[in-house]
Amino acid sequence: RTVYVNGAYLPESEASVSIFDRGFLMADAIYEVTSVLDGRLVDFDAHMTRLARSARELDMAPPPGRDELLAIHRELVRRNGIDEGLVYLQVTRGAPGDRDFAYPDPGLAPTVVLFTQAKPGLADDPVARRGIRVISLDDLRWKRRDIKTVQLLYPSMAKMAARRAGADDAWLVEDGFVTEGTSNNVYIVSNGRIITRPLSCEILHGITRRSVLRCAAEAGMAVEERAFTLAEAKAAQEAFLTSASAFVIPVVAVDGVVLGDGRPGPVAARLRDICLEEAR
Ligand code: PDD
Repeated sequence: RTVYVNGAYLPESEASVSIFDRGFLMADAIYEVTSVLDGRLVDFDAHMTRLARSARELDMAPPPGRDELLAIHRELVRRNGIDEGLVYLQVTRGAPGDRDFAYPDPGLAPTVVLFTQAKPGLADDPVARRGIRVISLDDLRWKRRDIKTVQLLYPSMAKMAARRAGADDAWLVEDGFVTEGTSNNVYIVSNGRIITRPLSCEILHGITRRSVLRCAAEAGMAVEERAFTLAEAKAAQEAFLTSASAFVIPVVAVDGVVLGDGRPGPVAARLRDICLEEAR
């Protein structure tokens, strides 16, 4: 695989980053994951706009511009022959010579890394046809989840706890209300209405969430942006999640409580179809 590091396209075995990089030492880094369908980037501009916002929120230097990043994304997709998959982009505050809690000089060059992951069958995912099972866990992440940083240890722990419990993912709960999945935004369908948590610092402002809510509105589906409780989720007709790498995935059980008839619901299936159609 060819990857990109600080201006150079390299075989992955030759790519390296300093051990003093603040991304490595402090998780002082932001990222984006853009999916690729039919060799084309999905919602590219929205991802780069969010990247620039993450940088601003952390007082990081502005990341490379949209046109430069687009050229790099396209070049990696081309060189690696990606038809279906994703491009991962990470920007760190850079690598000063020492470890220090204080930010280094603003003049320090950021570290910019991109790589691709092929995911054949991304659009025609069998998981979308059977749905996933989730467990609930306390949301122990920090309170600025709107910034897309690489502090992903708790989400990883939550994912592993879900696996150990025989489930696929975890829904995180704060004060009785569901915030997000480990790496996705979450929704329930109740009385025929799609319910999802409103945007705030408590959740990532998902790019897929935005597209899906727009598609739902265009299709005349009722959407309610409000927080919902775990109890509501367990009593819902159906549930689903969204992310760039998963699009729309139905959820068929929460903490072992089966939703509806235990099969993916019609709202999730329809939104997945519309969303994929739109992305192409
Ligand atoms: N995760 N919430 C969290 C906590 C996420 O990590 C993600 C994305 C989302 C969905 O955002 P979007 O629709 O923009 O992908 C919501 C990416 C895919 C990841 O970490 O791999």
